[in-house]
Amino acid sequence: EKIHNVCVNSSSEGSLIVAKEIADLIKEKQNAKTRCVLGLATGSSPIKVYEELVRMHKEENLSFANVVTFNLDEYYPMDKNNMQSYFYFMHEHLFNHVDILPENINIPDGSVNSEDLYQYCIDYEMKIKSLGGLDFQLLGIGRTGHIGFNEPGSHLNSGTRSITLDHITRVDAAPSFLGIDNVPRKAITMGVGTVRSAKRIVLLGWGISKADVLKKTIEEEITSQVPATYLQNHKNTTFVLDIGASSEL
Ligand code: GLP
Repeated sequence: EKIHNVCVNSSSEGSLIVAKEIADLIKEKQNAKTRCVLGLATGSSPIKVYEELVRMHKEENLSFANVVTFNLDEYYPMDKNNMQSYFYFMHEHLFNHVDILPENINIPDGSVNSEDLYQYCIDYEMKIKSLGGLDFQLLGIGRTGHIGFNEPGSHLNSGTRSITLDHITRVDAAPSFLGIDNVPRKAITMGVGTVRSAKRIVLLGWGISKADVLKKTIEEEITSQVPATYLQNHKNTTFVLDIGASSEL
């Protein structure tokens, strides 16, 4: 199976398409009186998708009452109240503005004790499975080719676990942490296997800075050195790219 690409004129245009797909899935599950399990991402790429979902909630009565979410990752260690946490990000951009039930929100907890971390990750993975797996997984991509925080070297079948962040990833995160020394060295991330078990995957790529890694991801051989290449043989993945991001394809 080949990755299916959609090239759009702008990130706004692409974000509307993706938000619409998510909203349609939520409604389809609502009509079937079942929950909708969404895997969510952070970073700048999905912000406009969340904005549009919030708008649909406010203006079109889109309800999140049947939605269960699992976020991909979180820095470690990281306090929930820290403004750099993905916990904070998700509440700021989505959860505080929609009617999702607090108990249906799952974000890896960057404050678990290191002795409990291994079991915590296993439990996170089990919880996804116990709900029937992810119906939809939203992704961005890092310059190292990471999805979630699955850095180069990640295994195809990896599950939720703690990982050490790549230097390039920490450099990219440095501005929001006011310097690289403040960027955590570790993170908790869903694994490549966790992501690939989703029934549907949509990866967002905006801007020329992603062009090089997207060329490798889509056109070159599958390798653990570019973990996003593992998406090539997923059966239902779409890359939504703007002009800059697709400029080297
Ligand atoms: C972080 C996140 C990834 C995200 C990546 C790209 O590393 N853990 O999930 O895809 O950043 O971020 P951005 O969307 O800001 O380019």
